[in-house]
Amino acid sequence: MAAPLSFFIIPIALLLDLHTYASSAGLVGLDTVLNFSYSGNTGPGRWGSLSPAYAPCAYGKWQSPIDIETDKVVVNKTLKPLKRHYYPSNTTLIDHGYNVGMQFENGGEFIVDGKKYTLLQMHWHVPSEHKIDGVLFASELHLVHKASDGSYTVIAVLYKIGDADPTVAKVRSMSEEQVEALRAPLQSTCKSNHRPVQPMHGRHVQLFI
Ligand SMILES: *[C@@H]1O[C@H](CO)[C@@H](O)[C@H](O)[C@H]1NC(C)=O
Ligand SMILES: *[C@@H]1O[C@H](CO)[C@@H](O)[C@H](O)[C@H]1NC(C)=O
Ligand SMILES: *[C@@H]1O[C@H](CO)[C@@H](O)[C@H](O)[C@H]1NC(C)=O
Repeated sequence: MAAPLSFFIIPIALLLDLHTYASSAGLVGLDTVLNFSYSGNTGPGRWGSLSPAYAPCAYGKWQSPIDIETDKVVVNKTLKPLKRHYYPSNTTLIDHGYNVGMQFENGGEFIVDGKKYTLLQMHWHVPSEHKIDGVLFASELHLVHKASDGSYTVIAVLYKIGDADPTVAKVRSMSEEQVEALRAPLQSTCKSNHRPVQPMHGRHVQLFI
């Protein structure tokens, strides 16, 4: 909803057991009155008119999420691998009402085309926001990074229902219970906190192999 974000759909090694976090650390709940939601009067179809700050939701040509049509994905051999350096960090698990997220104190960084982005927070959407060939996934994790010039990059990880975290998979998996743990604390208009997919407006998805 804010500045244009770059999305990369890649698997990363995050050993998260949300159930453990939610029960041992406890959720920090913010009793915010939400100024947007995922259904009702302030749902995605109206985001663009809720505030001047949200206007790009209506006129923007580079909006996320998108449906990734795999037969249109362009392999680009000059793309470079993403460099990630994540550290053990003190975190706060927060129920924002519109998602469950974690705030990092010093989570690490991520370098793309020589530019450094610092990991600020991550949060989950249930079900996924992005689709692949028209298919929604059980959940989607967004790792939000910010560079010193104020620009953002988000890494998105898709989850399907299955066993916890198989080591080699393009799409990671989580259990039904974990999906429910992500949904339970959310406000009633945000139980399905995914925005519908947006028009491509001539954009191409590029793939690094
Ligand atoms: C929506 O509310 C949050 C706090 O709950 C505030 O930080 C943000 O600026 C508000 N956005 C708009 C566009 O009013
Ligand atoms: C491939 O990626 C490089 C590096 O980001 C970029 O400069 C180039 O424009 C891309 N090629 C195409 C065909 O978009
Ligand atoms: C986490 O916080 C504790 C208490 O403030 C501190 O002693 C510790 O060094 C922090 N750990 C990391 C990895 O930053």
